[in-house]
Amino acid sequence: MKVIFLFLGALLLYHTAGAVIDYHRVPPYEAPTTYTVQKPPLDTPWTYRLGSNPWPEYPRPQLQREHWQNLNGIWKYRNATGPNEPPPWNQDLPHEVLVPSCLESALSGVQGEYTIHSWFSTNFTVPELWRDGRVLLNFGAVDYEAVIYINGQQIAINRGGYATFTIDVTDYVSTGDEPDAVNPIGKQTLQDPNHYFYTPCSGIWQSVWIEAAATEYVTRLDLSGDMNGQVTVNVHTLNSVSGNAEIRIRDRDQSATILAANPFKTNGEFIFTTGQVPKRWSPDSPVLYDVEIIVGGETIRSYMGFRTYENRNINGVYRPMLNGEFIFPFGTLDQGYWPDGIYVAPNRKAMTYDLNMLKAVGFNMVRKHIKVEPSLFYTACDELGLLVIQDMPSPRTGNRIEYSNCTRPPYLPNVDEQADFVDQLGRMVDQLKSHPSIFAWTIYNEGWGQLLTRQNGHYQEFDLVDLVRSRDPTRLISATSGWTDHGAGDFSDTHSYASPKCGTPFYKIPSPAYDPTRIAFQGEFGGIGHNLTDAHLWKVQDAIDTINQTYEINADLNSFNYRARQLLREFREQVELFDCSGGVWTQTTDVEGELNGLLSYDRRVLRVDLNVWRTEIQALYDAAAARGAMNYSIGEPVELELKNHL
Ligand SMILES: *[C@@H]1O[C@H](CO)[C@@H](O)[C@H](O)[C@H]1NC(C)=O
Ligand SMILES: *[C@@H]1O[C@H](CO)[C@@H](O)[C@H](O)[C@H]1NC(C)=O
Ligand SMILES: *[C@@H]1O[C@H](CO)[C@@H](O)[C@H](O)[C@H]1NC(C)=O
Ligand SMILES: *[C@@H]1O[C@H](CO)[C@@H](O)[C@H](O)[C@H]1NC(C)=O
Ligand SMILES: *[C@@H]1O[C@H](CO)[C@@H](O)[C@H](O)[C@H]1NC(C)=O
Ligand SMILES: *[C@@H]1O[C@H](CO)[C@@H](O)[C@H](O)[C@H]1NC(C)=O
Repeated sequence: MKVIFLFLGALLLYHTAGAVIDYHRVPPYEAPTTYTVQKPPLDTPWTYRLGSNPWPEYPRPQLQREHWQNLNGIWKYRNATGPNEPPPWNQDLPHEVLVPSCLESALSGVQGEYTIHSWFSTNFTVPELWRDGRVLLNFGAVDYEAVIYINGQQIAINRGGYATFTIDVTDYVSTGDEPDAVNPIGKQTLQDPNHYFYTPCSGIWQSVWIEAAATEYVTRLDLSGDMNGQVTVNVHTLNSVSGNAEIRIRDRDQSATILAANPFKTNGEFIFTTGQVPKRWSPDSPVLYDVEIIVGGETIRSYMGFRTYENRNINGVYRPMLNGEFIFPFGTLDQGYWPDGIYVAPNRKAMTYDLNMLKAVGFNMVRKHIKVEPSLFYTACDELGLLVIQDMPSPRTGNRIEYSNCTRPPYLPNVDEQADFVDQLGRMVDQLKSHPSIFAWTIYNEGWGQLLTRQNGHYQEFDLVDLVRSRDPTRLISATSGWTDHGAGDFSDTHSYASPKCGTPFYKIPSPAYDPTRIAFQGEFGGIGHNLTDAHLWKVQDAIDTINQTYEINADLNSFNYRARQLLREFREQVELFDCSGGVWTQTTDVEGELNGLLSYDRRVLRVDLNVWRTEIQALYDAAAARGAMNYSIGEPVELELKNHL
């Protein structure tokens, strides 16, 4: 639960002479380095193991190119004095910073505060062998606004701290020239310092890489498959010139080609049905197929799963459906915060440790809470079989308007901010929608940034639901998770701490009464806490001072698990007696001063008694099955050994 900030992410890039280097995998630029991990208020088992070559994996599994070079690693950094500081041309920036990272994090090596405007710089070399095609520079995410200069020229501006963006830099780099001088760059955006709950994340917080592409290259790939083997593919290319593409889909186990479609046109939806009915993707059988797209001079590697999500009335109750059956999604609120990396998991194993834990406890879903993760996170969910409810990050705080009828006042965006929100909502959906595990989108969380007055006669959420639906008609939509609901979207989604109130005839203001024309969903409940010893606490006084705001504190783990069992049973009764169709337990891990995780913030303490939770969660799925849901077995207990993830 946090509010999003505006920051500057400023980049300075320049190019040095083009020695031919192995283009499959080169280590990032390596200079003698003074970079060191700072000491965070709390570390994790991974903090001091990272080295200077972080996140080496290809960052975009659903649109992979063969020739690429990772630019993650040590970059140069300087805090900027303000929005109007001219670029520090020809200056060597004095500090080193690990990319990707949050400037506020220990992993960055900077651990700065109030780093609102910044300069970053790096050098990279474009392989000679890429000379004939285009060179693309990709940023997973830069918070919040970035101006990119290469070799002294401003080449791009991106606004939106969660959106992946790609820049064609071919005309700004050259192979074989003399090295240019240092050509720094900058751009600034002000932070709204009003309110926040956790440490912010500024800077380049997802992977950066260059890759070689064909002249008329693929800019985006939309790929979805339904339960009957109907594939919808849209290959977007530069300039949207209509050309021919081919698609090959292979069963990962048999590696047999199940489909090689006749050539189809790029830059438009192409729909066809696979020759044989494919295996369906679901949490208990997360089958994926490898995909190759051949277009112009490029072969793109990707993957897909076959699934159908629907909202359907079953015996008078609206239910979420997967592949034609009512599925009972049960997950956690998953914030994706780390004490050492803030927004950035130390590495892929650390990231998947959380997800493996959820699966082992018995959850079949995560609600990714007002944060957009790197693609590799969603790929891990696709592979593990975890449904994802993806929240749109809440709008930045705007003017504060007090409403006496709300427990906490909303912060309403102005016209420009609203336009940014809408733009970035659409980009998020486009960016992530090809991941089969994504089951639903959330537009607003608890009224944050939600316009509460009618615009042109109706509430804004209805337009936003239409927007999301038009970008992705294959998912369910929670227009408002908690608080003010005007009837938009697929869910009647309420929040209630600690006890659930899911589809029940009793309710707790400000969440509204259950609306039986939509799916009854408990977007948040639980949140019971348990204080830890100093060794596992985020040692920031402000955080320690707010531990007492946790909804409930249990003095020991026996009582934590006793209370969890009670709440899970209460929830199950609501499945049996009322129309409850799924829910979200708060939360995966502790975050700073919030001590209500299944795991501690440092991931070293698992509070969960696996026997208790697995039994109660299986009973939940069974209760749902008795109401017509598909059977779901949480499977054999698995080892949850941290050492396997180091
Ligand atoms: C960065 O610069 C801002 C504004 O000049 C200043 O307030 C802030 O303290 C600086 N932060 C660091 C980490 O130097
Ligand atoms: C880039 O190369 C120049 C010249 O070799 C060097 O002075 C500078 O420190 C390098 N910058 C980075 C960020 O590595
Ligand atoms: C809360 O009060 C505001 C301002 O008076 C009003 O516009 C809004 O409709 C009210 N909301 C609810 C849920 O009653
Ligand atoms: C939680 O534990 C910490 C450290 O043991 C202690 O400083 C703090 O007062 C405790 N807070 C509450 C609310 O129990
Ligand atoms: C929570 O703890 C802080 C710091 O110890 C204290 O100032 C505040 O009054 C406490 N709040 C409650 C509700 O106990
Ligand atoms: C679920 O399992 C139960 C008991 O094994 C069985 O009776 C029921 O038919 C199954 N339901 C579905 C939808 O497969």
